[in-house]
Amino acid sequence: MNQDLVAEIRSKIDIVDVISERIPLIAKGKNYFGVCPFHEDTHPSMSVSRDKQIYRCFSCGESGNVFNFVMKYDHKNFSEVIKELGERAGVDTKTVRIHQKDEKYNNLYEAYQLSQKYYQNNLYSKLGREARKYLETRKLEEETLKEFGVGLSLESDNDLTMLLKNKKYDVATLNQIGLSNDMHDVYKNRIMFPLYDPYGRIVGFSGRVYKDSNGGKYVNTKETVIFKKGNCLYHYHEAKDYCKSLKSVILVEGFMDVIRLSTIGIKNTVALMGTALTKEQTTLLTRLSNHIIICLDGDGPGKNAAKKIGENLFNMGIEVKIITIPNEEDPDSFILKNGKEKFLSLLEYAENYSDYKIHLLKENVNFQSEEELASYIHSVLLEASKIDDEIRQEIILKKLAKNYDIGYNTLEKRFKELNPKKKKQPEKIEVAKKSRKDKYQQAVEQIIYFMLNHDWVVDQVEKEKLVCPTNEERLLISEIIYFYKKNGYIDIADFFTFIQDKNDLLKLLNSIVSSNYQENVEKKNLFSYFHVVKDYSINQQKVRLQELMKEEKDPLEQAKIADQIRKLKLGDN
Ligand code: UTP
Ligand code: MN
Repeated sequence: MNQDLVAEIRSKIDIVDVISERIPLIAKGKNYFGVCPFHEDTHPSMSVSRDKQIYRCFSCGESGNVFNFVMKYDHKNFSEVIKELGERAGVDTKTVRIHQKDEKYNNLYEAYQLSQKYYQNNLYSKLGREARKYLETRKLEEETLKEFGVGLSLESDNDLTMLLKNKKYDVATLNQIGLSNDMHDVYKNRIMFPLYDPYGRIVGFSGRVYKDSNGGKYVNTKETVIFKKGNCLYHYHEAKDYCKSLKSVILVEGFMDVIRLSTIGIKNTVALMGTALTKEQTTLLTRLSNHIIICLDGDGPGKNAAKKIGENLFNMGIEVKIITIPNEEDPDSFILKNGKEKFLSLLEYAENYSDYKIHLLKENVNFQSEEELASYIHSVLLEASKIDDEIRQEIILKKLAKNYDIGYNTLEKRFKELNPKKKKQPEKIEVAKKSRKDKYQQAVEQIIYFMLNHDWVVDQVEKEKLVCPTNEERLLISEIIYFYKKNGYIDIADFFTFIQDKNDLLKLLNSIVSSNYQENVEKKNLFSYFHVVKDYSINQQKVRLQELMKEEKDPLEQAKIADQIRKLKLGDN
């Protein structure tokens, strides 16, 4: 890609703006801080620098420029991010072609893509009549079916297998993709819902029965190198933009719920594909928004899951709301029976997680029993103490006092006992227990960090002809020198893009940038670091010569080596 274009876009975009649209940032001195979205954390250990236009997490060691952040956070590849940020910066990006990454799996993505086309054709063919009738009874119109890429697998034994075979897929690959098994089609007589990864590529299917068929109601494609059910949320890639603009995401249980909500214009939705929420799915979900509306089925399992997921997200500091669908319905059946407006009002009156929990506490309490009432009030106070809002706490206490005719002061006294005034603690940044670096490594990394911040250090390092301990260090230094020669300036943010395809170097760069190295440098200071590194290389040479000496039999040669070692020690080589 054209480096000038990339640099132009970067210079017209402020990393602080872009990141703060995605996660809350607080200004502190020259920098901004936020909770790092790339590892599980509640402390603000990520810093964003407006001067340097980079972000770095002092806890997990993630760092990079605005492109790296958006790629990682939005699950987009480099060219997509360039296009998006380019448009925003008003830079012409017509010449940028979007490359798909993970090219080694391209044949798999293509197989699913072909299969999806095949399934979709079936649905609108003569053989799809019965399935279309079924979908009609479920009140799904063609427009909606197309929006979700819905298709149909037929009675036939091997139509899809043969189609893929004719496209040069071999038996091994066919077995691998989970759509074909020893030359037989896996899916028969099912409505086929394509499943997408967070980048929007089809990575499998879920097939639903609509007439006699073996197996469960829905059958998902087996897990492969590119599909792990627990790593996906249904509709994630389509929901992304809606969640950003609406600043919320609605979590439902099933595909049909997502699809039904789309028919009434609600598209900031994702489905769990079951009732458990894995760690990976939690990360995806919180990436969509930090305002999550849980809207699971109204039956027992749905309610239990809502409680569990809600509690978990609430404890992560996320704003959680809960919609309870009445009469054991799910969002799909509720909307079909009661219509759009009724659902919109459920949405409007969605409960805060803490209110919801206080309501739940009421269940199965015998209010005639003094003991049960007291224990109920105790648990409500406990719940209220977790709320980070004194006004809401007071409202809850007042309601309790009124509803159960208890003195407000009595309640407040008990509440304060439960909730001793938290002293405002200075927010501390947890520095990860990073693997200890020896003094040579620290010296080299400090020198590299100086190079990234000061042109003149790059010149100095080049003149010194430093020999660093590891290959990566040597390579990274030569890339910095190369970047500087080519562009005539040094800039960490641009340098991140410059080496973005070189994973080993990027890892080292991440580790350096996210450590607390000094930024300002004096010549004297720099030379002392050079000295440490040189010491290292002299020691290495000495070790090598001593080994040579051991192997050498000829006394004359031995004397020569001894002389070399002596000179090394004197620093005169
Ligand atoms: P539901 O049984 O609630 O499905 O399962 P649904 O969305 O209401 O579907 P319809 O209305 O009966 O057609 C919720 C989700 O659980 C997963 C699917 O992802 C489904 O969308 N599931 C369910 C399976 O994977 N296998 C099954 O056999 C059933
Ligand atoms: Mn359901």
